[in-house]
Amino acid sequence: MAMEVRKTKHSKISKVDFSGLGFGDIFSDHMLKMAYGKGQWGAPKIVPFGPMRIFPSLSTLHYGQSVFEGLKAFYAKDGSINVFRPERHIARFNISCHRLCIPPVDKKVFLDGLVHLLRIDREWIPKQKGYSLYIRPFAFAADSTLGVHVSHTYQFMIILSPVGAYYKEGFNPVKLVTAVEHARSVEGGCGAVKTAGNYAASLFAAHEAQKKGFTQVLWLDGVHRNYIEEVGTMNVFFLIDDVLVTPHLSGTILAGVTRDSVIQIAKDWGMEVNERRISMDELMKAADGGRLKEAFGTGTAAVISPVGAIKHKNKMITINGGKTGKLALKLYNAITGIQYGDKPDKFKWVYKIK
Ligand code: COI
Repeated sequence: MAMEVRKTKHSKISKVDFSGLGFGDIFSDHMLKMAYGKGQWGAPKIVPFGPMRIFPSLSTLHYGQSVFEGLKAFYAKDGSINVFRPERHIARFNISCHRLCIPPVDKKVFLDGLVHLLRIDREWIPKQKGYSLYIRPFAFAADSTLGVHVSHTYQFMIILSPVGAYYKEGFNPVKLVTAVEHARSVEGGCGAVKTAGNYAASLFAAHEAQKKGFTQVLWLDGVHRNYIEEVGTMNVFFLIDDVLVTPHLSGTILAGVTRDSVIQIAKDWGMEVNERRISMDELMKAADGGRLKEAFGTGTAAVISPVGAIKHKNKMITINGGKTGKLALKLYNAITGIQYGDKPDKFKWVYKIK
C-alpha cells in the first residue's frame, strides 16, 4: 500500500548531541499516525513530529484507555537497521489492545508502517554502542466525552527517540526496595499488559523509593505481599546456586520480550531456568545462606540491569558485593551482540532493514 508521507522542511538532527543521550527526551523528525472511526482503522500517514490538537474532554486523559509498546532499532555494522523482535512486540501490543477494548492493529500494516518510518528517520539511529533508537508505538481512545465507556474512535501512533541507558546508573547495579504498603497489580487486573494506568499506579511508591535513595521498587504480589513480581520497568531474575529463577507469568506481570530472550539464551547455554513463584522469605534466606549469587532486571529500555541491593522491611541485602555479576554481563553482551549484529542471530530475532 502506498503510504501518505509529509516530510519536515526543518530537520532537528544537527542540534542533537548523540554522545550525551539520556532516555526518551529527544524525538526524531517524523511520526506515524493512523485514526480509527466508523468501525475501522484508516490509512497510516507519516508526518513531521509535533504537537497534537486535542479536546480537554479527551476520554484517554480521564479514564486511561490506552496501550503502548517499547522496542528498539540498532545501527548494524553493515549499515542496515536491526529491529529486535518486532513481531513479538506487535503481538503483545494487540494482546494489550484486547484487554483495553481497543481494536487491534493489523500486524502487516503495523510492521510496514514502522519500516517506512525507520527508513525515513534512519539517520536518527545512534551509531555508538550502548545507544539505540527506542520505538514507542501507542494507541489511545480518541472520543471526547466524559461518559465512562469503550471509545468509538482511536489514534494509533509511532514515535522514535534516540536513547542511551535507561537508568542514570548505566550498567552499574541499581538498588531496589520492596513495596510493602502498595500493590501494582492483582490476578484478573491489567498487570500483564502495557497500559498507562499500570505506570500511573506505580509512581507514588517509586517516588517514595527514590526519595530514600533507591532506584526503583521491587513489586510484590497484591495479596500476600511476599511473592516477587517485577520492577515495573523490568522483569527480574535471581541466580540462586546455579539456577536462574524468575517469577512465572501469573497474569500479574508483563511478559517481557527481554525476559523471554534471557530465558532462551540461558537455556541454550545449558543453564537450569525456573519460572516459578519466589517469595521474599526464600530470597532473604538464600541471601543469608550465601546462595543468592546474582540478581538483575531485564527490559527493552533497561536491557540487563544488575541489582546490587534489595531492602525488604527492615533488612537490606547486598548481592554479589553490590557489583555487576558475571552472568548479567555475559547476558548483556550476548543480547546486545545479537542486536547490533556482532554475534550470529541463532534465534532469528533480528528484523533487518537494508
Ligand atoms: C520498556 O522497557 O520498553 C518499557 O516499557 C519500560 C518503559 C516504561 C520505559
